[in-house]
Amino acid sequence: MAVVVGVVGLVAIDTEGGAAEGEGEGKGKVVEPLITRIAFGSCANQSSPQPIWNAIIDFDPQVFIWLGDNVYGDIRRPFKLFGKERTIGPWKNAPRFIPSSPQELESRYQKAKINPGYARLRHTAQVIGTWDDHDYGLNDAGKEFGGKITNQKLLLDFLDEPQHSPRRKQEGVYASYMFGPMGRQIKVILLDTRYHRDPLRSDGSVLGSSQWTWLEKELNGPKSAITIIGSSVQVISNHTAATRPLFSLESWGRFPTERNRLFKLMADSKREGVFFISGDVHFGEISRYDCATGYPLYDVTSSGLTQAVEKAVPPVFSFMVRLVAWLTPTTMRVTNQNCRFRSCTYGQPNFGAIEIDWSATPVTLKLEVRDMDGYPVAGVKFPLVELQLHGSMPSVKAGEYRRHCSLEVDLPWNIKYRLAILLYCSVSVLLLTVMGLGYSATFVCRLLLHKCKLD
Ligand SMILES: *[C@@H]1O[C@H](CO)[C@@H](O)[C@H](O)[C@H]1NC(C)=O
Ligand SMILES: *[C@@H]1O[C@H](CO)[C@@H](O)[C@H](O)[C@H]1NC(C)=O
Repeated sequence: MAVVVGVVGLVAIDTEGGAAEGEGEGKGKVVEPLITRIAFGSCANQSSPQPIWNAIIDFDPQVFIWLGDNVYGDIRRPFKLFGKERTIGPWKNAPRFIPSSPQELESRYQKAKINPGYARLRHTAQVIGTWDDHDYGLNDAGKEFGGKITNQKLLLDFLDEPQHSPRRKQEGVYASYMFGPMGRQIKVILLDTRYHRDPLRSDGSVLGSSQWTWLEKELNGPKSAITIIGSSVQVISNHTAATRPLFSLESWGRFPTERNRLFKLMADSKREGVFFISGDVHFGEISRYDCATGYPLYDVTSSGLTQAVEKAVPPVFSFMVRLVAWLTPTTMRVTNQNCRFRSCTYGQPNFGAIEIDWSATPVTLKLEVRDMDGYPVAGVKFPLVELQLHGSMPSVKAGEYRRHCSLEVDLPWNIKYRLAILLYCSVSVLLLTVMGLGYSATFVCRLLLHKCKLD
């Protein structure tokens, strides 16, 4: 309890039920502390060591935001091609992921909560958050998932959501927060991209109608200098367009109609200073879309706190992962001199760091992805006025390419499918070489045999 009391007053929660501005009201106006540092992260395996908390604590954030896969709550079965339960292959007959019991999920949250690093952070920062699929209860799950009501309670318990909070009564875990004093306020809007989400490939809804109504109110509500929208899945990058048919990732891009609705709502609200933060993909990346609203829309992706693509392969193959990241075409990724690697993605454990320099003229914003030691591996720094409406929106003509404006799907096919083409070509060359060698060997043998006979 002491933990909660220590940081209360930093925030006025305002969920769907419209909790009042709270705390200070009636006791005279409380001046909200100025917020200059916010950290965020996603994808933390509660059973793995989590040394990254040290770096996060060193960054000394006033607020920490969970963006989902806060624990791995479901059960992952091994890849099995043969046997009674086959989890991959065309003859697959068993799911690769299954939900665990509520008791099991609760004990996994307990384990996460008592992690010494995280426990320390909870003392010094206010922790808020939303979920993604694995803590929602099942890999890639959406509205059809049966365990969502129970699991909503478990997430909110993990986040120490007060018992009377309206967030416990609504369908889904979306919420919004207002931090900081008047004129320098930061609004954080956390979306729920699971509870109401239609199946993948349906181009249906991501948020569902009640959450849309709420979001519209939030964006059109009281102004704030900065508005951070947290989405578990990426909003700007649509990597699937360029990684098909090899593999696909979840993102708002997979629901193009819904994504356009989001951009239109943002443009119509004329709200300034908005950017996204996201997780899910097991690598870090900063992307930017200039043709959605009247100013550049950034999406800072940090994933994960423990789960990262390069850790999924033996260290000698790390370069392969980086090569694939570098070869995957992208139109949205921000590439600059601040990146540790050429690809400007980062496939080792990482967290997101947001810094606002309110005393600079003009006020500046620094958005970074940082590594396990707290060093930046990707970053952008710009004056906050860059996120103000500048009248006309840039656009692209058909067949024309513009960085941060053309969609990945509109890239010429030979670029878009570069990864698949390269892989198939390499495999073909390999096969041909093997066949060629085999043929040559047979030929030489025949020749030798023939020679023997003649002798
Ligand atoms: C989490 O870590 C444990 C222990 O290292 C491991 O057995 C488990 O497979 C991991 N889970 C995921 C989803 O990576
Ligand atoms: C994202 O890529 C998928 C797969 O190619 C495509 O179906 C979808 O329309 C794309 N979305 C956007 C917004 O370009």
